[in-house]
Amino acid sequence: MAHQSVLILDFGSQYTQLIARRIREQAVYCEVAPCTISMAQVRAARPAGIVLSGGPSSVYEEGAPTVSPELFELGIPVLGVCYGAQLTAKLLGGAVRSADKREYGRAQVRVRTGKQGVFRTAAVGEELTVWMSHGDHVDALPPGFVHDAESDNCPMAAFSDPARKIYCVQFHAEVVHTPRGAELLGNFLFGVCGLAGDWSMASFVEEAVAKVRAQVGETGRVVCGLSGGVDSSVAAALIHRAIGDRLTCIFVDNGLLRRGERDYVAAVFRDHFHVDLRVIDAEERFLSALEGVTDPERKRKIIGVEFINVFEEQARSIDGAKFLAQGTLYPDVIESVSLKGPSAVIKSHHNVGGLPERMALALVEPLRELFKDEVRQLGLELGLPRHMVWRQPFPGPGLAVRCLGPLNRERLDVLRGADAIIEEEIRSAGLYESIWQSFGVLLPVRSVGVMGDARTYEEALAVRAVHSRDGMTADWVQLPYDVLGRISSRVINEVRGINRVVYDITSKPPGTIEWE
Ligand code: XMP
Repeated sequence: MAHQSVLILDFGSQYTQLIARRIREQAVYCEVAPCTISMAQVRAARPAGIVLSGGPSSVYEEGAPTVSPELFELGIPVLGVCYGAQLTAKLLGGAVRSADKREYGRAQVRVRTGKQGVFRTAAVGEELTVWMSHGDHVDALPPGFVHDAESDNCPMAAFSDPARKIYCVQFHAEVVHTPRGAELLGNFLFGVCGLAGDWSMASFVEEAVAKVRAQVGETGRVVCGLSGGVDSSVAAALIHRAIGDRLTCIFVDNGLLRRGERDYVAAVFRDHFHVDLRVIDAEERFLSALEGVTDPERKRKIIGVEFINVFEEQARSIDGAKFLAQGTLYPDVIESVSLKGPSAVIKSHHNVGGLPERMALALVEPLRELFKDEVRQLGLELGLPRHMVWRQPFPGPGLAVRCLGPLNRERLDVLRGADAIIEEEIRSAGLYESIWQSFGVLLPVRSVGVMGDARTYEEALAVRAVHSRDGMTADWVQLPYDVLGRISSRVINEVRGINRVVYDITSKPPGTIEWE
């Protein structure tokens, strides 16, 4: 059963994903496509509405992204936002002018034509607070257009051609700084496009299960690398619902895991879901490959290669496995099709990339259409415990990138002990779910202390806690002093090997979240 959907054409705005979020929050399915998509592809997608996103360019710049004017003749309602609004004006015969100064920040717009279009729920003369971020602005409307709203700095703040169902707003309705933005978007979705708002997680489960069954067939087998993280866990639970014991999950205990991790994953997947789970004890193998290595990139490379080797050995022994499951999310998919060029490699992240080609496996990626918070909802829908669904992200190379200097079981055990205390204290302060990541980093730095009457000379622990939306940027968390105090005294009292605790107050940039 295909859902009605909205197509968002991306002109490179940092807010494009937010438009998608705001639309899905209203139970309307939507997808983001690059603005270079062909008109044949647009028609084939049969969207009930099209949104043209903002973007950093100027419509008059050479090589500025554009669309075929045919888009406006498909009979599909169009909403242009910021650059999308300017482009619509230009393509349909209006004029866009470079403004004397950029307008950035909050603005008040006055509604001139209320009770219709995106302003269906606003009256004439009403003032709305909106978020502006533009250099150019529309100077003259295209023929047939109505002037819907104005602001002091931007007379053509909104305009439309109701006959052709084309609506344009200069401001960003998708950001929280436009308090009634979701309502205005809703007016477009429900009032103009006539959408029903019928997209829910429960219906997603049904469809996703059917899709996995169709892809894998009656007899196909799927292998899934289970990390214990939210994405691979939800993907595994979903595929298990679709094909039951034709799914085999592989969990590699590389000796770089948090305390109790292996038992926790086994309890959820083996005991609760009865998944065919193989727990591979590879601690020895990883730690000996890492012996004496202190360089962060070398650690990462060794772990990546070793992981693929272990995984491949296991996967080969699963008769007839032709599919590899991955918890790829929608932001990864959008990122790879967006206008942006390849970004510099800061750290080599690893997953099981490279394996599919080497083993001729086809990918099963049932979460490709979802955002992180939707994946969490889906996890709950599938019966995963809340505790698991709300786990903070944990890096693939595990504690290796948090145990600076040489890696060995003793130092990793020290870090595991401290990490468990941090998690307990953050949880009992009720902060765990509101923090992107909180963890400890063991530093190969010894300092002098005194405990009881004895001198100590032990390593230091850095506590790190960050807020982030997607891991790309992050702010350090202003943890309450009493929480920091409890973490510090418990770590020093309970963990042999650490006699000093410091708090990391570096944001990203300039720092990264992990220390290596
Ligand atoms: P950084 O340290 O680059 O981390 O600021 C950004 C986010 O990515 C996580 N991270 C990884 N995740 N494999 C992963 O799956 C990796 O190799 C890896 N390295 C870092 C990190 O925990 C943070 O959430």
